[in-house]
Amino acid sequence: MTIFAERDHAIIHSDPLMLLTDIEQRLDRLLPVESERDCLGLAMREGALAPGKRIRPVLLMLTARDLGYCDDHSGLLDFACAIEMVHAASLILDDIPCMDDAEMRRGRPTIHRQFGEPVAILAAVALLSRAFGVIALADGISSQAKTQAVAELSHAVGVQGLVQGQFRDLTEGSQPRSADAIQLTNHFKTSTLFGAAMQMASVAASAPLAAREKLHHFALDLGQAFQLLDDLADGLSDTGKDPFQDAGKSTLVNMLGSQAVEKRLRDHLKRADRHLAAACNSGYATRHFVQAWFDKKLAAVG
Ligand code: IPE
Ligand code: IPE
Ligand code: MG
Ligand code: MG
Ligand code: MG
Repeated sequence: MTIFAERDHAIIHSDPLMLLTDIEQRLDRLLPVESERDCLGLAMREGALAPGKRIRPVLLMLTARDLGYCDDHSGLLDFACAIEMVHAASLILDDIPCMDDAEMRRGRPTIHRQFGEPVAILAAVALLSRAFGVIALADGISSQAKTQAVAELSHAVGVQGLVQGQFRDLTEGSQPRSADAIQLTNHFKTSTLFGAAMQMASVAASAPLAAREKLHHFALDLGQAFQLLDDLADGLSDTGKDPFQDAGKSTLVNMLGSQAVEKRLRDHLKRADRHLAAACNSGYATRHFVQAWFDKKLAAVG
């Protein structure tokens, strides 16, 4: 790895589909392998580069631009890749036998099935570490913004974020629990990373505090909607994951039924849209993207 490899200029598109390609190409460059025997490097690449939805990095980039960020260097793309690396690490860990014990992810055997459990765990730790290194070296972004980005992302990973959500899911998920308890777990396991993406977009764009607060609320509702969609999709054939992973788990879908959950999801989306509109009053790319993205996904689960 050289610093120069991280600093070269990138062509960065505005169309979400093209953005997705930019993100994947950058991830590819940020996660080199030394040789075919570099099983840790290969597992990290497979975890991050296997075909995922990339919704968090795309949202980060669209929102930063809606807030007025003008990218003439690759720094924002690196922030986006850092979010995706953290997400990929969380999925590798989520799948291992002592967690959800999943066989398939993104249409492929899970990382521990491909590389073994020790490599999967170490690759997840290395992806987390790489994410923070990528932020530290992001080009064209102020030291202050990088420091804030690190603080936001470490919060989202930690004991008030993904780790807490995963712990609650594992310890409470198989028992009956209240709707509020489920919502709180979903907050930790899903909303916090969307929250970090929004705050990283905000600090990159030097957004005012008022916009940051609105985006915080946007992320809370969006994360809830996203997790409900994931729960609704459990059992569909095209998720790329083990079907019916949530059988016997206390999810809102199992508790309230699909119709009631779809209504809750749409309510979250309406609130999310109001927060987003208030935060980015001059840019609409993120709003259009979120609406179109959920419309398509909801049509598939309906
Ligand atoms: C899965 O996230 C984990 C949840 C929070 C529901 P995604 O649905 O974004 O997974 P990929 O990245 O597309 O595989
Ligand atoms: C996982 O939630 C959330 C994480 C932060 C990894 P799930 O266990 O519902 O995610 P999937 O369904 O396996 O993707
Ligand atoms: Mg899980
Ligand atoms: Mg899981
Ligand atoms: Mg799930």
